[in-house]
Amino acid sequence: MAILVCGGAGYVGSHCLKELERNGVECIVLDNLSRGHREAVGTTPLLLGDLGDEAFLEEVFSSHTFEGVMHFAASSLVGESVQKPLDYYENNLGCTMNLLKAMHRHGVSSIVFSSSAAVYGEPEIAPIPEDSPCSPTNPYGETKLAMERLMHWCEKAYGIRYISLRYFNAAGADLQGFLGEDHNPETHLIPLVLQAALGLREAVTVFGQDYPTPDGSCIRDYIHVQDLAQAHWLALKRLLEGGESGIFNLGSQHGMSVLEIVETAKQVTGVDFPVKAGPRRPGDPAVLIASSEKAKKELGWNPCYSDPQTILATAWRWHQAHPQGYQTKK
Ligand code: UFG
Repeated sequence: MAILVCGGAGYVGSHCLKELERNGVECIVLDNLSRGHREAVGTTPLLLGDLGDEAFLEEVFSSHTFEGVMHFAASSLVGESVQKPLDYYENNLGCTMNLLKAMHRHGVSSIVFSSSAAVYGEPEIAPIPEDSPCSPTNPYGETKLAMERLMHWCEKAYGIRYISLRYFNAAGADLQGFLGEDHNPETHLIPLVLQAALGLREAVTVFGQDYPTPDGSCIRDYIHVQDLAQAHWLALKRLLEGGESGIFNLGSQHGMSVLEIVETAKQVTGVDFPVKAGPRRPGDPAVLIASSEKAKKELGWNPCYSDPQTILATAWRWHQAHPQGYQTKK
């Protein structure tokens, strides 16, 4: 019996894979390596293929016995989703439909799902509890919400239980320094800031200085990827022990502005890299902070690496050792 980890070669997926294996879980990764990295999978078996390919999925489910599924595989760039909504619905919702169909056909009844704070859109309150209204402002968030709703109905019809984990800003790197964040193109604040500290970028641009926040820059809730990994393990355990479905926010419950991240990065790296002011990035809410009380109470989640210093120090260690990212580009 194994766990199928879809998207296990990606940033969050690979850290969760490592955590599952550390807890003695046998895993098999399914990834098309469109954004992920073979190196991040290490020695775990990798099935190279696409969730869009139903014949391939049938072959995967026929030739293995899975106790459960972890589903990280998705397109996740907000700006790109606005440009290419059809691609996002196809790759996110369409592929999840194929995965759930295969699970149903083969009697696999537990799935842990990567969702996002993007389902809330422009929230009216901070911190945001799970029962806040969901009103996504882009196709990326819409597809994550649609996938959650699909799993809700699949539970009612077919008994597939699910835990959906709504991440806020995943950040940081593996504590041992083996895994890290390597996107192409890179759009996330912390890797961009560290690339500037390494001299690989001329400057960091702060998108907007006139938000209704104390220093005028956007506030986000950065959560260490190792803390996310612990939550996935706890969620999987709950489902495998017969526990109920659920939706949980995963954040540190602490907001950091863009300028505060920049300052902390300067302290951690010891480099005074150039910082420029730029216009707002369309679609960015001013403040996104999670309430994670539910995950703490119900899953027993205990995030302990999500202070800004640890996030930046672990990310910095990985970026210094891998200035061009993973060696294998596929
Ligand atoms: N930012 C800058 N300059 C940059 C890059 C980012 O100022 O060069 C700012 C952004 O405007 C934002 C903050 O830094 O205020 C964080 O931006 P990221 O791109 O790192 O992350 P986002 O908050 O936009 O996105 C994250 C996840 C998405 C998810 C979203 C939820 O990466 O997958 O949170 O809204 F959808």
